[in-house]
Amino acid sequence: MNIAIVGGRGQLGRELAQTLGPRHSISILDLPEFDMTGRQGIEDLVHLKPDLVIHTAALTDVDRCAREPLEAFRINALGTQNVALACQRAHAAMLYISTNEVFDGTKNSPYLELDEPHPINPYAASKLAGERYVRMFLDRFYIVRIAWLYSLGGNHFPGKIIAGAKRNGSVAVVTDEIGNPTYVPDLARAVTELIETEHFGIYHLIGEGYTSRYEWARRVLQSAGMEDVPVTPTVLADYKRDSIPPSFGALANFAAGTTLGIRLRPWQDALAEFFEHWNRT
Ligand SMILES: NC(=O)c1ccc[n+]([C@@H]2O[C@H](COP(=O)([O-])OP(=O)(O)OC[C@H]3O[C@@H](n4cnc5c(N)ncnc54)[C@H](OP(=O)(O)O)[C@@H]3O)[C@@H](O)[C@H]2O)c1
Repeated sequence: MNIAIVGGRGQLGRELAQTLGPRHSISILDLPEFDMTGRQGIEDLVHLKPDLVIHTAALTDVDRCAREPLEAFRINALGTQNVALACQRAHAAMLYISTNEVFDGTKNSPYLELDEPHPINPYAASKLAGERYVRMFLDRFYIVRIAWLYSLGGNHFPGKIIAGAKRNGSVAVVTDEIGNPTYVPDLARAVTELIETEHFGIYHLIGEGYTSRYEWARRVLQSAGMEDVPVTPTVLADYKRDSIPPSFGALANFAAGTTLGIRLRPWQDALAEFFEHWNRT
């Protein structure tokens, strides 16, 4: 397939390009030469005549989205509208990457694909608006909700915990934010399988199982041989930031798991592999 990856130089986009590269012809589209919020970018996308557009680009700084909600809407919602319209014109299928944050976090078991989204912060509202544009303009789409990404070279939670531990000798981490740590190479493999099915729809692709930020931090420090570093439990209410995440934000991979047999391995196994690589760098 001819696949265009919008946001192809981001954390997920890079890994997708590498994983899909041997089997498909890949075009990477990203700032500064490609801007999905402008009309020229859309013309460029149409002229590539892709079979599939994988759209990973976003304003991912959730706190900035909270401070500048119109900018979040311009990039994440209107940018996605543009990409969807380009797919419509090019007769391309689209895979839109969305987020676990579209849910409000009040459920006490993992969110299924059929649960009703209810965003509680501007980042999540702008990503959900993107989902709605995709559904409005296209018949052939995948919406893939993901969570808590990390990979070598990315800007992510395990790296921040290790840096904080080295700098301060201890870390304070929230116990009441729950999610699914997701290793980007595992996600890229699952996306590669999904796009070959042409089984369009809404999917949750996440590392199997879920945990709190606090337990994840403890596991990270253990894996890095830093288990002696104290981890102080704290709560979201005491951790002042501009964007409030859903408290129970764990997703369940029900649709891809049961219908297509596409699953990611348990998050603890993936983290162990990540640290095998990390410890060698
Ligand atoms: N990271 C997570 O834990 C997480 C969790 C749930 C969902 N997601 C979603 O997953 C997707 C990928 O996340 P990621 O961590 O790979 O993000 P990332 O590393 O920030 O990559 C996003 C890419 O999009 C580009 N971009 C931003 N605005 C653009 C525009 N107007 N036109 C073209 N490209 C633009 C960025 O360029 P610049 O760097 O130059 O701005 C960047 O290269 C996003 O849609 C995000 O909402 C991520």
